[in-house]
Amino acid sequence: MLTIRDVHKSYGDVQALRGVTLECARGEILALLGPNGAGKSTTVGVATGLLAPDSGSVELLGVGSPRLARVRRHLGVAPQSIAVYEDLSAAENLRFFGRMYRLPASVLRDREAMLLDRVGLTHRAGDPVQHYSGGMKRRLNLAIALIHDPEVVLLDEPTAGVDPQSRNAILELVRELGDEGKAVVYSTHYMEEAQRISDRVAILDHGRVMATGAVDELISAHGGDTRVRRDSPAGTETVQTKDPLPTLAGMLAEPETLAIHVDRPDLEAVFLNLTGRSLRDT
Ligand SMILES: Nc1ncnc2c1ncn2[C@@H]1O[C@H](COP(=O)(O)OP(=O)(O)OP(=O)(O)O)[C@@H](O)[C@H]1O
Ligand SMILES: [Mg+2]
Repeated sequence: MLTIRDVHKSYGDVQALRGVTLECARGEILALLGPNGAGKSTTVGVATGLLAPDSGSVELLGVGSPRLARVRRHLGVAPQSIAVYEDLSAAENLRFFGRMYRLPASVLRDREAMLLDRVGLTHRAGDPVQHYSGGMKRRLNLAIALIHDPEVVLLDEPTAGVDPQSRNAILELVRELGDEGKAVVYSTHYMEEAQRISDRVAILDHGRVMATGAVDELISAHGGDTRVRRDSPAGTETVQTKDPLPTLAGMLAEPETLAIHVDRPDLEAVFLNLTGRSLRDT
């Protein structure tokens, strides 16, 4: 559905993307995971056709570049900097963007009601957006991206600045988009989110894709060892291994085991091993 091939993009002297290659298939949620400045928004900008790559190509639905209007209408984007009209209500915003896509009035009415409900804004739909909280604006930003029922959805940090409850609602909605068969690219610097909802993760750092794969694949290829710790009256024993099951079985068979702790590597460990830095510190 979306293919990005060897894209380079600089802003003056800053090389934001240095050969990014990515694919997102129908029904797939691809998380772009990387720290501040990694190139996530630039990748999204290139994928939406807002930014022209210096070299490389972007193709949508196997038909062409998103810089073509007829291709771009299959794309929905929720930008990192919220793009909504503050003096309009949520309902009016959705209607405005829906009319831009020339949706028939009856279709637009249905989608407006459905999306307001899915992002939990029905009860405030008539209030001007300037009175909304940051999290409410973020949810409206997401609904606008979906108004024309696009096949490819690009979400740039869609949970930034929202409370845990709204975050859960957004993550659930994103998962549903994947289940409905849309191709979803989801940028975040929260590895928990990438781990929770994505089918595949692309780890981005300094404008390069360091690795791509399912979370489990990335963890087994780059995560390092699992630590298994056994507490007994005699003390604590720790084993580091790539294959913890035999170790666990052995420990379970020992008499007088008080507790066993298993510490599996996560995407943080993958990032650390690939870049030498911690995702959290950046
Ligand atoms: N309009 C611009 N002009 C100049 N440099 C830019 C511009 N936009 C981005 N950059 C630079 O390009 C690099 C990649 O930025 P980008 O916004 O794509 O990263 P990001 O991964 O989205 O970061 P964040 O997590 O902070 O949103 C950074 O070094 C950034 O400073
Ligand atoms: Mg960004």
